[in-house]
This record gives sequence, structure tokens and C-alpha cells, in this order.
Amino acid sequence: MEDLLTIILAAGKGTRMKSDKTKVLHQIAGKEMVKHVIETVEDLNSKIVSVIGYQSEKVKDNLNDYNLDFVKQEKQLGTAHAVMQAKKEIKKHEGPVIVLYGDIPLLKSSTLKKMIKKHKTDKAALSVLTAELDDPTDYGRIVKDKNNEIVKIVEEDDATNIEKEIKEINSGVYCFDSDLLVESLENIDCDNAQNEYYLTDAVDYIKNKGHKVIPVMIEDNEEIIGVNDRKGLAEAEKVLRSRINEELMENGVTIIDPATTYIDKEVEIAKDTIIYPFTYIEENTVIGKNSTIGPNNRLVDAKIGSNVELKANCQIWKSVIGDHCIVGPFAYIRPGCKIADQVKVGDFVELKKAQVGEKTKIPHLSYVGDAKIGEKTNIGAGTIFANYDGKNKHKTEIGDSVFIGSNSTLVAPIKVNNRGMTGAGSVVTKDVDEDAVVLGVPARVHSKKINN
Ligand code: UD1
Ligand code: MG
Repeated sequence: MEDLLTIILAAGKGTRMKSDKTKVLHQIAGKEMVKHVIETVEDLNSKIVSVIGYQSEKVKDNLNDYNLDFVKQEKQLGTAHAVMQAKKEIKKHEGPVIVLYGDIPLLKSSTLKKMIKKHKTDKAALSVLTAELDDPTDYGRIVKDKNNEIVKIVEEDDATNIEKEIKEINSGVYCFDSDLLVESLENIDCDNAQNEYYLTDAVDYIKNKGHKVIPVMIEDNEEIIGVNDRKGLAEAEKVLRSRINEELMENGVTIIDPATTYIDKEVEIAKDTIIYPFTYIEENTVIGKNSTIGPNNRLVDAKIGSNVELKANCQIWKSVIGDHCIVGPFAYIRPGCKIADQVKVGDFVELKKAQVGEKTKIPHLSYVGDAKIGEKTNIGAGTIFANYDGKNKHKTEIGDSVFIGSNSTLVAPIKVNNRGMTGAGSVVTKDVDEDAVVLGVPARVHSKKINN
């Protein structure tokens, strides 16, 4: 849709959140609330202006990746005052102006499109997206005349007892005629319970001037949940998570118990992968097809291949796991790991900044930090890569087809070359040559060739 300007209000503090962080930066399904709103609007091809104020620099920094302009509201004097800050942009604009709030993260672009269509076909000067709620508490109430046109919107604190009975509420999404928006903003006062300039007062102004103000009733009430406090945040989180899970299931992912599976919006999962309960899959994680994940896994920004088995109670952070790997139970893979195909990382194994070659096995109870391990190598149970000397971290390099005996300690910096072997319980302080066998504390060369 061309000729559209959208103003997103994100300047308020969000006092009811009781937070040091401004409200619109609180996350829902791993993404800041206001970003959900921006992405919805992006689908409309609209020019976007965001009104920022409280913690404006933080909000701006967070929204670096989006194509939008900012205007600043120095003092948060109300929603009408906030829109007023974008007056220059509105005056320059010819077509309709959408105004919406940064705290309604569940709104869908299809709803906005329907609203704009109705606004045009009904030749309205202002259209307000409304909903009928069983419990309308805290929302502005829609007062209508006999022709189903809106006469005014009354805020909770200003409503009479009779008005409080009204179940139709203001979602905080509007489509304005641009000239009338500017004119009404210039005429709004702050004579109300909160002494704020209410955007909702534009309704009676425009109506009283003889123009048409129409309600556009939403089909799915969940879309307009306004997040004002932590309860609202949890409510929105629940809805968004179930939307994400449903979409994945529609695309061929099995989620055994969607109620206990928490997947962020940007995550990609290929078909025939099975997600077991109590699993968190976060940030930009990508999972290939035919893998099994969980139960009780946490994956953060992980790239997991196809046909991978992640057993119970694993955590994987900012790391890459190849195809056909078996990981866990109880594996902890910390940032910077790159695991090739067909690798086994077994139970109670911790990896950090480790590169592991194809078909290598680290089956039990090991710490592997700052390491590069070749192919077809076996790291015995209880092996410790001693990478820290109290001051600095050092690297360990292990070649192909190496055999590290159980309970070895490899004191970095150190290199164990191809086909090298360490005896059980060795403390290895010097490099091990190709094919050499070392053992003891400290480890000494036992023989140059295995089986010699
Ligand atoms: C508002 C509406 C109410 C509606 C509800 C829907 C008004 C007066 N009331 O109430 O009718 O039912 O949303 O969720 O508009 N903001 C600014 N600058 C300000 C004040 C607010 O940018 O000076 C921004 C906030 O960051 C927020 C949005 O405007 O994103 C809405 O403010 P909020 O205080 O949450 O309004 P509600 O009380 O929810
Ligand atoms: Mg609100």
C-alpha cells in the first residue's frame, strides 16, 4: 500500500511495568515488544515514524536495523502530545495516517489492511480498531450513536459507572485523515483525570466537526492485548508462543507438548524434527530436519544439523552442531563451538570454544575448552583440558585418530599429534608426537609407536 504514514508511539515510560527499563523494550518471544509492532507495519510498505522519549537513546539503538524515522517527545504529556511531535511529518503527508501504540505486539498486518480498506470504502475521517471484551477494565470505552458511529472514547479514570459497563474498547489503533489529525491535535486539552493530552479526544473533535468516525471491530481479541504491566506481558507472551508453535506444527515439526515448549520468533526448524517438552529454543537458532530435541533443552543462537539427537537436559549456546551428531544427556556446549558431522558429545561433557572433527567421540564427564580436535579421535572419560594457568587461557590441539586415556589432564598449551595416545590418569605437560604413547604424572614417553 502506498501513500501510507504510520506513527508508532513508544515514548512512554510504562510506569505500571515497575521496571528500570522502558516498556517497549521488554521482550516477548525473545524480541522487544516494539519490534513486533514495527514488523507488523513493515508489511504495509508504509513510511514509519516512531515517537520516542523515555530512554530514547536505548530505544533508538535497539531499532538500528529498521528503516524508520524518529521524533522525540521530551516530556510524556500524553498520547495526543506524542503524536503532535510528528506534526511536520503528518503535514507533509497526503494519504491516511495510521497511529498505533508500541505496546500492542500481537496485532497482525492483515487486520491493519482490513481496517484501511474499510476506512476508504466507508469514506471515514477516522477509523478506530475496537474489540468487545468480557473484562474491559483499563481500556478506553467506545461510546457510539444510533448509526454505529463513534461519538467519543472515555478513559477508565474518566468514565461514569454507566460508561464503565460498555464492553467495546479502544485498541489504540487508528486510521486518520491526515489534515483532520493535525487539526484535532491542535485543539486537544488536558482537562481530564490524568491531566494528559489524550489522543482519544480527537474522536469527539472530528465527530463534532461533522465527520464520520467509525469503529472497525477486530475478529480476534487476542491481537489487541495492550501490555501495560507484567501480567499483560505474560499474557502476550503466551499468545505469541502458541502462534509460533502452531506455525511450526503446520510446517511439519512435531511439538509433543506446545504448552511447555518456548520457541522464539526468529527460530527456524525443518520438518520431521521432534521437540520434547520443557525445551527453550531461542534467538536465531536453526535446526535441520529429522532431529530430536529434548526434553529440557535450552538452545540459544545454535545451529543444529539434520538427524541430530539432542538428549535430555542439554544447553547449547552460540555454537554449531553438524549432521548425525549425538549430544547429551547433560551436555553443556558454551559459545564458540563447532562440531562436525557424526560426533558424539556424551553425558556431563562441557565444551567451550572447541572445534571437533568428524566422527570424534567425547562420551563422558569431560571439560574441553579452547581446543581443536581432529577426526576419529576418542577423548576418554574424565579428561580435562586444563586451559587456564591462573592468568591466561591456552589452546590445546589434538590430531586425528588420537586416543586420550580416561582421566587424563592435558595442560595447555599443548599438542597431541595424529594417532598419539595417553595412558589413563596421565598429566600431559609436553607435546605428544605422532604415534607416540605417553603415560604417568607428569607423562613420559612410553613407546614411540602404539603396540611397539
Ligand atoms: C491507551 C488509550 C486507551 C486504549 C489503550 C489500548 C489513550 C488516552 N488511551 O491507554 O483508550 O484503550 O491505550 O491499549 O490514548 N505514549 C507516548 N507518550 C506519552 C504517553 C504514552 O509515547 O506521553 C505511548 C506509550 O509508550 C505507549 C502508548 O503511547 O506505547 C500508550 O500509552 P499507555 O500509557 O499504555 O496508554 P493506555 O493507558 O494503555
Ligand atoms: Mg497501554
